[in-house]
Amino acid sequence: MSFFEIQGSTPLSGQVRIHGSKNAVLPMMAATILHRGTTILTNVPRILDVFWMIGILKTLGCQVWFEEDVLTIDASVVTSTIIPQYLAEKMRSSIIFLGPLLGRCNKASLWYPGGCSIGSRPIDLHAEVLRAMGAKIQEDGEHLDVTAETLSGCTFSFRFASVGATENAIMCAVNANGKTVLNNVAREPEIRDLCRMLVKMGAKIDGIGSSKLVIEGNSQLHNSSFRVPPDRIVAATYLSAVTVCGGRIQLCEVPVYDLRAVLAVLQKCGCRFRKRKSGLDVWCYQRPWAVPYTKTQVYPGFPTDVQSLLMTVLSKAEGVSVIEETIFEARFHTALQLQRMGADIQINHSYAQIRGVVSLHGADVTAMDLRGGAALTIAGVSAEGKTIVRAVEHVFRGYESLERDLAAMGANIVLKQ
Ligand code: EPZ
Repeated sequence: MSFFEIQGSTPLSGQVRIHGSKNAVLPMMAATILHRGTTILTNVPRILDVFWMIGILKTLGCQVWFEEDVLTIDASVVTSTIIPQYLAEKMRSSIIFLGPLLGRCNKASLWYPGGCSIGSRPIDLHAEVLRAMGAKIQEDGEHLDVTAETLSGCTFSFRFASVGATENAIMCAVNANGKTVLNNVAREPEIRDLCRMLVKMGAKIDGIGSSKLVIEGNSQLHNSSFRVPPDRIVAATYLSAVTVCGGRIQLCEVPVYDLRAVLAVLQKCGCRFRKRKSGLDVWCYQRPWAVPYTKTQVYPGFPTDVQSLLMTVLSKAEGVSVIEETIFEARFHTALQLQRMGADIQINHSYAQIRGVVSLHGADVTAMDLRGGAALTIAGVSAEGKTIVRAVEHVFRGYESLERDLAAMGANIVLKQ
């Protein structure tokens, strides 16, 4: 098992470019099988989940080339609709092949998806909307068989704005017969990006960016190319790092508009920033201030994926802060690892109370999930002494090279086997 060895504490200075978005590129890769042709994606991050998705695409019969940041997918021929267990279990995103496989082949089989252990993560919302379009879904508790004689457009209202279920619904509707109206859809930027790519491929989607989408089915799709936008959570990681470590950094290619809720909270902590051409000049020259209450919400609220990172910042803040996690019921386990570094955090159901300490001390900690691993890593950079962060395979899923970027900003961090 790989681990980071970090010698803190280090104020940050330097420049980093934000790579393409994991949560944008994964549904885009699945969407390519809707078209019997070639789709080219650029600015694709070289992260573990992308390579697992390439494995699934090849298993389905697609031809895939990945050179530097250019991913070419030829889905002219799909020879299988079965996603094998060893790939399905690698990440949550295997589930978002349901919609495109139904849209292309009217059937799909896969084991329940893997992904971060941050809650039960059921798939009932995915099943509800696909059934509304005519799918028949058989489950045995670990495996799904989905078929559809025909897929018909429908009007459907999500009882919760699930990101993945929205993505599956959109991709299925693109090839369904007739019009589909989806109400209360997720509005995360990654949904907007997926819709924009599908429109560029020839799909007809109205209401992009709103909570209501109208999709005309049976689109005539064609070859196209699309640039993957920068990863807003990776950007939030480095914004949190400079806030908790202190210093001044320049981030290139930052989706500032998509980060407005995160920037608002970090500004309350004392972080300051100035917009540059397509990036941000960011600095924090003081101990962070506490933030009395932050609640994670669906977009455009404060994102759950930044919750662990904010907890690291607040663990060194002057005062008492409270975070309420409303999206996932088990996303506070990084707090236990931060406590090993001296953080004073009390968890009570969906609330975390963080009493800031002047400094954290190095410790031997273990990443429990992707964003929690990043949170522990920036905690190690800000802590006094040596920190070991184990199980960093979690971090490889969503960051091209967290250690390379932090080292480029002056951190003393190395990856070891
Ligand atoms: C996506 O997961 C992201 N993953 C997650 O990022 C992110 O945390 C999440 O959206 C929320 O923004 C990818 O895009 C690959 P949801 P997803 O469906 O689609 C419940 C990261 O670190 N729910 O919006 O799985 C679910 O249990 C990852 O990059 C149901 O109850 O999120 C959760 O409590 C972590 N039934 C809530 O909804 C369903 O059928 C939000 O889930 C589906 C979801």
